[in-house]
Amino acid sequence: MTQPLAERYRDRLPLTATTPIVSLGEGSTPLLAAPRLSQRLGLELWLKCEGQNPTGSFKDRGMTVALSKALEDGAEAVVCASTGNTAASAAAYAARAGIAALVLQPAGAVAAGKLAQARAVGARLLEVRGSFDEALAAAEELARRGTHVLVNSGMNAYRIEGQKTAAFEISDELGRPPDVVALPYGGGGNTRAYYKGFVELGAGIPRLLAGESAQRTTTAATAIRIADPVHAAEVEEAVLGSDGRVVTLREEAIIDAWRLLAHDEGVFCEPASAAGVAAVQATELAPRTRVVCVVTGHGLKDPASATRLTPEPIAVDPDPDAIAEAGR
Ligand code: F0G
Repeated sequence: MTQPLAERYRDRLPLTATTPIVSLGEGSTPLLAAPRLSQRLGLELWLKCEGQNPTGSFKDRGMTVALSKALEDGAEAVVCASTGNTAASAAAYAARAGIAALVLQPAGAVAAGKLAQARAVGARLLEVRGSFDEALAAAEELARRGTHVLVNSGMNAYRIEGQKTAAFEISDELGRPPDVVALPYGGGGNTRAYYKGFVELGAGIPRLLAGESAQRTTTAATAIRIADPVHAAEVEEAVLGSDGRVVTLREEAIIDAWRLLAHDEGVFCEPASAAGVAAVQATELAPRTRVVCVVTGHGLKDPASATRLTPEPIAVDPDPDAIAEAGR
């Protein structure tokens, strides 16, 4: 059985011997070699497949720590604002902890799989008539009133602590940190977490490439549809401290990278999750540079994007000749 990340990295997390660990079996996700993408880009490319976490995104790494601490502290309810993945994760870990979850999502801007997840595990789901940024401001206000523990990473440092463990896993597996780590940049919590993880490891800091959408308020990559990133200052610090950069990406660049991941490597992610690969494509790197792209969320989160971006299936009769004809 895979060890929960809170057990695996207990000594590097703010957990005590008596903290009750709320786990769904997160972490220890695959680091896949990407031979076709490597050849195409002239790099040594690896994919950290975070969609293989229990709720299908990297959010589970932080949520196991946040909900463990909330349970230890006697919380009865958690709240978050989310573009969908934080909500799905918070809802699942709250159910696992036996406490209530209230999730605030921008109405009409959350992918179907994520909505289904939060509903299935019994979260109270509110669709806010407004943006993610407005929902977050409301969630913060609610948390200040003391009824709910906020599990957004801007205000809940346990999230960042849990998420930094991905840096540990990558270094463990490769034997040392890679030259470059590329990932999507929405609110910036994950960029901050990777930087913290590599700094704590003390074995060298990879150049961090943080791929953000040029269309922050309208992007089809709804997971990163965030106007005002909470962790902007820390992302700035992380890219300066790592000799990296923030890469601002056009919609087509994100979708191209999404398609490449799927067609070249068989890795189906949600569009936002391809922003790391897109950031690598937009950056000049020396041949055979060792790069890890963090693929942050599973493709099944957002079936509508896959439907919109791919050819329609072809209807046929169960007739071998017709099928042979149509299958060419
Ligand atoms: N990739 C996915 C799949 C995400 O869901 C998010 C953020 C990011 C990347 C960006 O990470 O915000 O740490 O820079 N999703 C948040 C949510 C906003 O509510 O689920 P970040």
